[in-house]
Amino acid sequence: MTMEQDTREFWEGHYRRRERIWSGKVNPVFAGIVEPLAPGRALDLGCGEGADAVWLARHGWQVDAVDVSATALERAAGHAGETGTADRIAFHQVDLVEEFPEGRFDLVSAQFLQSPLEFPRAGVLRRAFAALNPGGLLLVVDHAAGPPWSEHAHEMEFPTPQSTLAELGLAEDEVLVERAETVERAATGPAGEHGHLLDGVLVLRRR
Ligand SMILES: C[S@@+](CC[C@H](N)C(=O)[O-])C[C@H]1O[C@@H](n2cnc3c(N)ncnc32)[C@H](O)[C@@H]1O
Repeated sequence: MTMEQDTREFWEGHYRRRERIWSGKVNPVFAGIVEPLAPGRALDLGCGEGADAVWLARHGWQVDAVDVSATALERAAGHAGETGTADRIAFHQVDLVEEFPEGRFDLVSAQFLQSPLEFPRAGVLRRAFAALNPGGLLLVVDHAAGPPWSEHAHEMEFPTPQSTLAELGLAEDEVLVERAETVERAATGPAGEHGHLLDGVLVLRRR
């Protein structure tokens, strides 16, 4: 089996095993950063079931949203239809290991673009930064720790905003680092557990 098939099948399995998990809610960290921006053209990498893409479209953005999972994209397109945002979102099935969407963007968003499979994330994020218009933002939000209700939380490894920034290897004169920090937010686990999640937040502006 090729790496491309592996990736597709893994994420297809991930979505097919569950009913759609759509809540319509976006991470408040994401909303807080994007809400003040003037809308333009956005690219959502690993859009999953489309909550962020729909939120962006509702806030006036023209969105390209990509994911490797056909099931996730079908659900995302369904949500876009239900919310009257379908005309502002183009969904594409793309394996980011193999290809990167065409175009120039004012915002490229990578929300929890993390995979247990072999995934050349730094290369993908470098291409994401290169796809920004001057003045555009790359927004990377990652799980910075396992959820407290997971028994495997302590065995997992996570990128930090600083390690992601270092991997990108950007020159000082091409980037303004607006935020590189870890933030905490309250969340509820699958069995109703209350706890806090840690998100790594990296906001880079292309000069
Ligand atoms: C942890 S989920 C995050 C989904 C969504 N961004 C969110 O915030 O809920 C990671 C997403 O990245 C997608 N993904 C993983 N590897 C990918 C790849 N190589 N190319 C495109 N999408 C990929 C998965 O299908 C999944 O939807």
